[in-house]
Amino acid sequence: MDPSGDYEIIHLTRSVLSSETERAVQALLKQAFGDIDGDYYAGDNPERIMLLSSGGRLVGHFAAYVREVALGGEELAIGLIGGVAIDVRFRSQGLSKRLLREAHAFFGERALPFSVLFACEPARYRSSGYRPMTNETRFIEGGQWKQFVYRGGMVAELGERKWPDTLLDLRGRAV
Ligand SMILES: CC(C)(COP(=O)(O)OP(=O)(O)OC[C@H]1O[C@@H](n2cnc3c(N)ncnc32)[C@H](O)[C@@H]1OP(=O)(O)O)[C@@H](O)C(=O)NCCC(=O)NCCS
Repeated sequence: MDPSGDYEIIHLTRSVLSSETERAVQALLKQAFGDIDGDYYAGDNPERIMLLSSGGRLVGHFAAYVREVALGGEELAIGLIGGVAIDVRFRSQGLSKRLLREAHAFFGERALPFSVLFACEPARYRSSGYRPMTNETRFIEGGQWKQFVYRGGMVAELGERKWPDTLLDLRGRAV
């Protein structure tokens, strides 16, 4: 397979994802994460699903969420990014960086000041503007509310606004 070809980025919502594409997405996520069982989107419905394809083949996936959270005493909408996966044969070519730029552009259109993600390998996101969050983070996991500094939690400031080191209540799951 020639990984040097052209890539296309496709924006979708869950409601228009064809069953064939959905099967390809779930297979890619299973390849990337292994432990995913069943429907990746069952927990939360992303605002945008971003797919990267090469020659009609799915090689990358991002899910972009817009979440109303509480940051200290303030209610605001932020971007969340989950389901970050690049086909193993196409890694280390800057493709996840390309999808991150696309997600940030989407969040920028919505005037969202921050993008947050929960990284397995934080080093991969630094060059896209992310730094570790030191905020206590409240979120739901397995039906239980939890609160602690989430290791791997990272934030990117998308505009002028600085991210404060205060309680982040995700009001839902960490995607
Ligand atoms: C994490 C993942 C999405 C990265 O995708 P990718 O397209 O290979 O990443 P990129 O090529 O865009 O590289 C992003 C950054 O990571 C660095 N990087 C790439 N491959 C790397 C490697 N093998 N080891 C360490 N850093 C690496 C790049 O150098 C780049 O940083 P830079 O701009 O400072 O050079 C991909 O490895 C993957 O799908 N992994 C399995 C699923 C997963 O862990 N998802 C993330 C969950 S949070």
